Amino acid sequence: ADEKAALTARIRELLKAQNATLVAHYYTSPELQEVADATGGYVSDSLDMARFGTECSASTLIVAGVRFMGETAKILNPEKRVLMPDLGAECSLDLGCPPDEFAAFCDQHPDREVVVYANTSAAVKARADWMATSGIALDLVKHLHAEGKKILWAPDRHLGAWVQRETGADILLWDGSCVVHEAFKADGIARLKAEHPDALVLVHPESPAEVVALADFVGSTTGIIKAARELPAQKFIVATDNGIFHKMREAAPEKTFIEAPTGGKGATCVSCAHCPWMAMNGLRSLVGVLERGDNEIFVDPALRERAVQPIQRLLDFAR
Ligand code: 13P
Ligand code: SF4
Repeated sequence: ADEKAALTARIRELLKAQNATLVAHYYTSPELQEVADATGGYVSDSLDMARFGTECSASTLIVAGVRFMGETAKILNPEKRVLMPDLGAECSLDLGCPPDEFAAFCDQHPDREVVVYANTSAAVKARADWMATSGIALDLVKHLHAEGKKILWAPDRHLGAWVQRETGADILLWDGSCVVHEAFKADGIARLKAEHPDALVLVHPESPAEVVALADFVGSTTGIIKAARELPAQKFIVATDNGIFHKMREAAPEKTFIEAPTGGKGATCVSCAHCPWMAMNGLRSLVGVLERGDNEIFVDPALRERAVQPIQRLLDFAR
């Protein structure tokens, strides 16, 4: 506790001295989220993290999350210095969508509107017509579908398939997935449901279809926290990264949250739903980057000019 207090005090001092603001994702550790909240920073989902970066006046943004979040912040704020606690914080969706292969896939389907998830590199975004996040995917695809557009969706096939089922749009899917959400197992969740018949099931749409089928609510991280506060239940089974429990408990302290199991029949692993890359963000790595000023995100200006378009288009659509 003493060490945490000392690190927190040091972070506060360094942020102030450098006119820096901390922006963190819901999947980072509770300590990191607490520091962001206590220092005038921000904790949210990927869409709101991008929005916040453009609205705050700090000259440096410290992005605690994974690499695509730092890149998006830099693309939207080229004049700001953007640092990350650990540049090794990747994402399996981003890694599973190499820009050259993706460009070739798009070239094969020139009749389709290209929609890419936020969880992609700047080079992949540069090839897209639109960026999407889980919080806005349904609204965006409904809009494109109503205009008669056919869609190429990348990289998360589970999220894309959910959007396809919900909207009826013609969607061609790239074959990517999130290592955390893909591990949730329907039979384990069904068993938990039987043990807790009064619990509602909250699921992030990066999960497989058979898991989504068991959900009482499907949505983004922000949507899941809101559902925990507003839905008329005292107990919830939650299928998303367990970093989210910090804000869920803050939002509804009197309610009970149960982690959805990630193993199949007979598996004992019930608490392994945590992104290994999000876990690279900690108070120590935060102090380190603030002291050294390294781990800066750079995006080539020519690439930035193209990559900003699908992101800005989404922010305008979301307004
Ligand atoms: P959202 O916070 O936008 O729901 O995204 C979840 C995610 O996997 C970010 O890595
Ligand atoms: Fe990527 Fe999944 Fe980690 Fe989110 S939780 S950063 S989608 S690997």
